[in-house]
Amino acid sequence: MARPAAASVALLLLSCVAAAAGTDRDALLAFKAGVTSDPTGALRSWNNDTGFCRWAGVNCSPAGRVTTLDVGSRRLAGMLSPAIADLAHLELLNLTDNAFSGAIPASLGRLGRLEWLSLCDNAFTGGIPAALRGLGNLTTAYLNANNLTGGVPAWLGAMPKLAILRLTKNSLSGRIPPSLANLTTVEHLYLDENLFEGEIPEGLASLPNLQFFTVNQNRLSGGIPPGFFNLSSLQALALANNAFHGELPPDTGAGWPNLFYLSLGGNRLTGRIPATLANATQLQFLSLANNCFTGQVPPEIGKLCPQSLHLSNNQLTATDAGGWEFLDNLTSCDALIEIFLDGNKLAGAMPSSMGASGSNSRC
Ligand SMILES: *[C@@H]1O[C@H](CO)[C@@H](O)[C@H](O)[C@H]1NC(C)=O
Ligand SMILES: *[C@@H]1O[C@H](CO)[C@@H](O)[C@H](O)[C@H]1NC(C)=O
Ligand SMILES: *[C@@H]1O[C@H](CO)[C@@H](O)[C@H](O)[C@H]1NC(C)=O
Ligand SMILES: *[C@@H]1O[C@H](CO)[C@@H](O)[C@H](O)[C@H]1NC(C)=O
Ligand SMILES: *[C@@H]1O[C@H](CO)[C@@H](O)[C@H](O)[C@H]1NC(C)=O
Ligand SMILES: *[C@@H]1O[C@H](CO)[C@@H](O)[C@H](O)[C@H]1NC(C)=O
Ligand SMILES: *[C@@H]1O[C@H](CO)[C@@H](O)[C@H](O)[C@H]1NC(C)=O
Ligand SMILES: *[C@@H]1O[C@H](CO)[C@@H](O)[C@H](O)[C@H]1NC(C)=O
Repeated sequence: MARPAAASVALLLLSCVAAAAGTDRDALLAFKAGVTSDPTGALRSWNNDTGFCRWAGVNCSPAGRVTTLDVGSRRLAGMLSPAIADLAHLELLNLTDNAFSGAIPASLGRLGRLEWLSLCDNAFTGGIPAALRGLGNLTTAYLNANNLTGGVPAWLGAMPKLAILRLTKNSLSGRIPPSLANLTTVEHLYLDENLFEGEIPEGLASLPNLQFFTVNQNRLSGGIPPGFFNLSSLQALALANNAFHGELPPDTGAGWPNLFYLSLGGNRLTGRIPATLANATQLQFLSLANNCFTGQVPPEIGKLCPQSLHLSNNQLTATDAGGWEFLDNLTSCDALIEIFLDGNKLAGAMPSSMGASGSNSRC
């Protein structure tokens, strides 16, 4: 009697697989139905002639469930069908660089196995749906370059595996939620080119794995949280074109063994450029331009030998009597590609190519 029982179990399993696979197929067809324009014929293979696991951009598990939908840069336009959430085994959804519009469907939050999500470079509108907090396996989220509005939801801080979050180039507003300080897994946090205001929450400077933190071009203000100067995991820190004020601490640089990119331009920073910056020995790009820094450029900055040095539009001084030593120290720097010094109070034995005029109205 064992055989019929086994057979019926097998039959039952088969019909389950078939039903689930039918769901996946229907979900893909619903996705296709949401696409109103497919000028490159990217979804032409999506028809009854072949199994859906062989449709362009689709990959399946050995069990025949869709795990990957990868249709980036196909010039697809239309709406993202909420039925996409029926692809219960989806791990990767890549819609990068298309022309999808409308809201991000809340149903996406049902994709519990999703690890990698890119909706970037589309025309999605509306807010980041609260339902997305259901994406407990998500490690990577690219939502950048859309027309998203509203705030950054506080629950993002509770995403257990998030390592890369890119929200750049939207119209997101409000404050950066302090709860992001709970994203202990996060390595890359890109918030540039939005409408964020208020201060950077101090707790972000304690994120143990943070390597890239960029908030260029927002409306942020206040001081740079002191902890950032001791965040040794940092590789890139970009705070340019906001309204940060205050001085750089006297030991700036000593806590940055891995920092190669530092962009603080276009703020209201004051005081001297600390010689200790040269302790950040990996630094290749340094911009302090368009601030209110005063005093001489420390010779150590020349010795540091970055590829790119932007100091324009401050109140830096140099005369025949001193202040040019950093340039001497730069002359033996083969790595140097560009240097900008205009709009300071540099005078005397200055190479004419570097200009010296201009005043800085922000100080
Ligand atoms: C494709 O197959 C489904 C289910 O087998 C059927 O309902 C549908 O009409 C078919 N579509 C075309 C265009 O043949
Ligand atoms: C996603 O799509 C973009 C654009 O087509 C492509 O460059 C990228 O490699 C894709 N990424 C993954 C992980 O599939
Ligand atoms: C994460 O994925 C695993 C399978 O890969 C699944 O068992 C688990 O339920 C998922 N977590 C969530 C929160 O859905
Ligand atoms: C966002 O909206 C603005 C104006 O509302 C429009 O000019 C722009 O093209 C839109 N961007 C995207 C990526 O759709
Ligand atoms: C971080 O998470 C803990 C536990 O969920 C919570 O009590 C705390 O308020 C959170 N921190 C922030 C800054 O939101
Ligand atoms: C960085 O850490 C050192 C040693 O713990 C401490 O002396 C220094 O004040 C800290 N700097 C900042 C800016 O917090
Ligand atoms: C940092 O740089 C300063 C001046 O260049 C130097 O005196 C100091 O010893 C350095 N500190 C560390 C921790 O490397
Ligand atoms: C800068 O260069 C001068 C002249 O070559 C040298 O005497 C001085 O020690 C250098 N300073 C630093 C900080 O390397």
